[in-house]
Amino acid sequence: MIESYSEHLPVLLNETVAALAVKPDGIYIDGTFGRGGHARAILAQLSDKGRLLGLDKDPAAIVAGQKLAQVDQRFSIAQCSFSKLSSQVYDHVWQGKVDGILLDIGVSSPQLDVAERGFSFQKDGPLDMRMNPDAGISAAQWLAIADIDEIATVLKTLGEERFGKRIARAIVETREHTPITTTKQLANLIDKASPFREKHKHPATRSFQAIRIFINNELAELELALQQAVDVLAVGGRLAVISFHSLEDRIVKRFFRDQARGDDLPANFPVTVDQLNPKIRLVGKAVKASDAELAQNPRARSAVLRIAEKLA
Ligand SMILES: C[S@@+](CC[C@H](N)C(=O)[O-])C[C@H]1O[C@@H](n2cnc3c(N)ncnc32)[C@H](O)[C@@H]1O
Repeated sequence: MIESYSEHLPVLLNETVAALAVKPDGIYIDGTFGRGGHARAILAQLSDKGRLLGLDKDPAAIVAGQKLAQVDQRFSIAQCSFSKLSSQVYDHVWQGKVDGILLDIGVSSPQLDVAERGFSFQKDGPLDMRMNPDAGISAAQWLAIADIDEIATVLKTLGEERFGKRIARAIVETREHTPITTTKQLANLIDKASPFREKHKHPATRSFQAIRIFINNELAELELALQQAVDVLAVGGRLAVISFHSLEDRIVKRFFRDQARGDDLPANFPVTVDQLNPKIRLVGKAVKASDAELAQNPRARSAVLRIAEKLA
């Protein structure tokens, strides 16, 4: 694996750390360690008794986390999906004791910047797109076997790509004579199959995003992680989620709304709001990056931070 030296600028850093309302002696989990920008800011607020566990699927993120763990006894790192949050918490005997959880979902800058990871249509590399290249099938392997309808559905539902069917057909026709194995090959093919270009957007943007979300099972893993996060938090513990995509943000928004509403009883059922047993309360409104942050980091433009607090 090519080790990346490029940096990842953490988005909404101050807002996220404020959202977690870090208790100096608390127990925290960063479910998406990346290069540890948020993790370091959380550690800066912890005392010697505080603990932070980082999780990430990506081996390069784990290497970065191991380096941090060597110099900071309060921090540890595990390579796994955040959808395995409960089992990590169980291993640490932290059930109901976790004071804050952060999920900064999506891809890190090094994942996009290193061509060999195969996430970017702007760089030529093997068509991989796996957050953990040692698990599951790569984008190239999937595109070699999926049928037109499956590809079209992924492009339409996960990328909101209106030319999904057309692009899927072009993929299937191409692979009959040439295997699609590189990012540039796929990007060029999508470019040719797209009848027109959106302003300031490469025609492959939506399809690459859709394939990445599909290959990494991102939406299902997010749903699993949200439920587990609420279950393992201590009363008063905070959950902060940063999403970069409208489909992800919709999942977070709906989950928070349902958990804050409590039991799903018929509308006229004779109970008070408290008796509905709400699991969380919403903390403030959705937070977006300031103009100052956007000027520094254009990747923050689609970031949305939502915050919830666990109730009794
Ligand atoms: C936006 S980056 C996080 C950056 C981090 N907050 C920082 O400041 O460096 C997202 C990270 O989440 C990881 N990731 C994405 N989905 C994951 C999942 N289901 N489980 C664990 N890690 C995941 C990616 O590998 C990537 O390193």
